[in-house]
Amino acid sequence: MDIPWWRDAVVYEIYVRSFADASGDGVGDLPGIRERLPYLKELGVDAIWLTPFYPSPMADGGYDVADYRDVDPLFGTLGDFEALVGDAHEVGLRVIVDIVPNHSSDRHPWFRQGLRDRYVFADEPNNWQSTFGGPAWTRVADGSWYLHLFAPEQPDFNWRNPAVHEEFLDILRFWLDRGVDGFRIDVAMGLYKAEGLPDVKDQSFKSHSPVWGQPEVHGVYRAWRKVLDSYPGERMAVGEVWTDSAGDLARYVRPDELQQSFNFAWLLAPWSAQAFKKVIDDTLAAVPFATWVLSNHDVVRHRTRYATADPGTGLMRAKAALLTMLALPGSVYLYQGEELGLPEVEDLPPEARQDPVFARSKGKIPGRDGCRVPLPWTTGSRSFGFSSDGVAPWLPQPAGFAELSAERQSGDPDSTLEFYRRALSCRRDLVRSIPYALEWLASPEGALFFTRGLLTCAINCGTDPVRLPPHTAVLLTSGPLDGDRLPPDTAAWLSG
Ligand code: GLC
Repeated sequence: MDIPWWRDAVVYEIYVRSFADASGDGVGDLPGIRERLPYLKELGVDAIWLTPFYPSPMADGGYDVADYRDVDPLFGTLGDFEALVGDAHEVGLRVIVDIVPNHSSDRHPWFRQGLRDRYVFADEPNNWQSTFGGPAWTRVADGSWYLHLFAPEQPDFNWRNPAVHEEFLDILRFWLDRGVDGFRIDVAMGLYKAEGLPDVKDQSFKSHSPVWGQPEVHGVYRAWRKVLDSYPGERMAVGEVWTDSAGDLARYVRPDELQQSFNFAWLLAPWSAQAFKKVIDDTLAAVPFATWVLSNHDVVRHRTRYATADPGTGLMRAKAALLTMLALPGSVYLYQGEELGLPEVEDLPPEARQDPVFARSKGKIPGRDGCRVPLPWTTGSRSFGFSSDGVAPWLPQPAGFAELSAERQSGDPDSTLEFYRRALSCRRDLVRSIPYALEWLASPEGALFFTRGLLTCAINCGTDPVRLPPHTAVLLTSGPLDGDRLPPDTAAWLSG
């Protein structure tokens, strides 16, 4: 069987607002990404995923789409998009775009024109809560209510109306015709709500819930798969599926549905060999094609998640987790800035925060701005090279970003950036010559050892050094070894 490109791909998530600003308005844009393609190529990723760049009032950073077939002037033009795809393909990078089918912006023409049968309206609200806090219903002038599982500016579509189906099939074709290699499907377990909209006791992302993951949603992805398969070049889709069960996740990844779904269990697991092993076992038993992700634009950066009172631990663990993730069967999604070892920016001033989660929780929940701070490219300039000289970025960067900039790290063998480059290059050399299957080796408590043919990976999540498993050579480590022993918070790749 030919192995499809996405099976082992390393995909780099670009949060477009925060990657690189070519226009000099303090917000990242498509021409900015285009200028940085050589950096991404050198990093060694296979594909980029672009978060929404469509016309939007930005009530939720672009996840409130007002027009699904254009580019917001903040990010450039459709011409800029086409040029970016062209250049990316030329250097061998695939391009995945975000598609937002659960809801539109309240500025979308359908909502503005009052086409109510395309959204979820009710005479009386039920008890559902918005994921961003507060009730999931907003009242309109005539006294009826519309549903929004996210911000009030994001009305949920009514997928029981065939017009919504038709519209999205056409939107997919629009972007496929412009050469995109795949889609990242936002809130892929949303779309349908249980008939009768019953009250719920628990609104969290569960496999059995009237709010999420209705069986009808699979019909949508079967139709989408047909569209993807009707184009040449192995076009694909990856679903953002939050669920409490690997079995439920697997329902999205079937031969006639999505090729992949994000596996958030890995990102949610604590720093523990036992927890990591359980996630790996559950995932590989459930899905034919696994994905792994440590960070994205919605969660606290993993360097900060793994931090302890000892200031060095967060980064050591982040690098060890990366090396382990890159050794697992399947594909990996990286989030911009993790290759620089960026921490979560936790002390953003309240007036700078823009995530609706912060305002809706009246400041109780900091929200997601801390992982969205614009990238530092250079040591100098007001925005560390993110924008033009003297221009302030849309979120303030901490002074410590100078030290972490790509310029400062490039060429320094001890830097996180060079570690990522080495790991990705070594993975690329190996990945197609090792079996997909993974075999566990006996390991001391607190550590995990597994092997895939030529590659053995060892990670130590415990508190004492452990002896490395048998090997002929050490290929790569996330930190210094202690002779033949693997220190705590460290991982190693060995050849068997
Ligand atoms: C997804 C996105 C998130 C967005 C939400 C609503 O979870 O990743 O950023 O706020 O959907 O569209």
